[in-house]
Amino acid sequence: MFVYDEQLTTMILDYCRWRLALDPVPLDFGGAQASSLAASLGGLINHEGTDPRRVMDVFDGELATAVVSCDSPRFLSFIPAAPTKASLLFDMVVACSSLQGTSWLEAAGAVAAENQALGVLADLAGLPRGAGGCFVSGGSAGNLSALMVARDTATHRMGDRSPHRPLMAVSEEAHSSVGKALRVLGVEALLVPCEDHRLTGAGLQSALESQARGADVIAVVATAGTTNAGIIDDLDGVGQIARQRSLWFHVDGAYGCAALFAPSVRDRFAGIEMADSFVVDPHKWLFAPFDCAVLVYREAQSGQGRPHPGRLLPRRTPQRRPGRVESQRLRLPPDEAGSWPTALVLTGSQRHGRLSRRIRNRARRYPAVGRSHRTLALSRAGASARIVGCPVPSDRVASG
Ligand SMILES: Cc1ncc(COP(=O)(O)O)c(C=O)c1O
Repeated sequence: MFVYDEQLTTMILDYCRWRLALDPVPLDFGGAQASSLAASLGGLINHEGTDPRRVMDVFDGELATAVVSCDSPRFLSFIPAAPTKASLLFDMVVACSSLQGTSWLEAAGAVAAENQALGVLADLAGLPRGAGGCFVSGGSAGNLSALMVARDTATHRMGDRSPHRPLMAVSEEAHSSVGKALRVLGVEALLVPCEDHRLTGAGLQSALESQARGADVIAVVATAGTTNAGIIDDLDGVGQIARQRSLWFHVDGAYGCAALFAPSVRDRFAGIEMADSFVVDPHKWLFAPFDCAVLVYREAQSGQGRPHPGRLLPRRTPQRRPGRVESQRLRLPPDEAGSWPTALVLTGSQRHGRLSRRIRNRARRYPAVGRSHRTLALSRAGASARIVGCPVPSDRVASG
């Protein structure tokens, strides 16, 4: 088991080479019958162990084909992943190297690479020196971590004046993970109505002033790239109100903050430099494989010492108290430690920007394609890479 096996290695590497070279990647089908999957899996876990060829056959023939391939060009639902071949390959390299990124003491190489990638994002957002963060498993974990730090920071800062039942201001367009995070944290939501699906500074101010418990709000969550339509909230307006009222300002950019790499749309993110924390998922629109999210804090120190799904890395100062920078780890997929930072190095930040511009341009052209097929109607002009359409009823398709 722990001895190098040439045959097994060749079989696996051949499979990986074949999968990487697929062009186009087939869509496959995620809705297989539970009974047929159960039959394929039956007996695989047994006392003696199973022949690797049989395992590979089941994986390739039954399991992999029962998962929609997010990297297929035919997959347009939800928020697809589009990993580059380089990032997939480096996922393998990182896995084969048994890397972990626990702390500077044990993993300085991985931590330094992560710090560099965190630094690139913090700089793109315009955060000051002292910003830093960590890699976590996804936007949901990032939102939860950031909002926990927001809650604890407010409690610490306000002391006896802390509201008994704190609230955080969110919009109805916030991702479902934000609502779930609040429930986990025992914090209630103050729902701020949107203007044309957008959270604005004026909307926030009016909600804080008009709603009965507005004074108990300790933080506000804005979205940079809503899940449904890719809309970027009024970060500048919201950030200013947050500053005036000493609210923690979190930006959920799980999907949209990838466009920070594109100078052509950088102005849409004006105000993000006021954020106390923001999250971005390289597995969404930064061409990394699942699972990978980056959580950046304005002050790396703010998250220190709290339970945290990941380590907290003070950017640029890893040498200072190197053994003390990580906080308690809840979950850390080993591949976070290398594949996205490596992919970024290989692709280059300018090309990241160009790639996202190309995708946005394609999204803009899509309405024309949809119209020409007469099957899709555009619900909203593309604010980013999202195409928001709805099926045209079949009688209207026919009459054209
Ligand atoms: C705006 C936004 N935030 C958070 C998430 C959750 O991200 P993850 O699936 O990586 O946990 C998503 C997922 O689509 C999202 O669109």
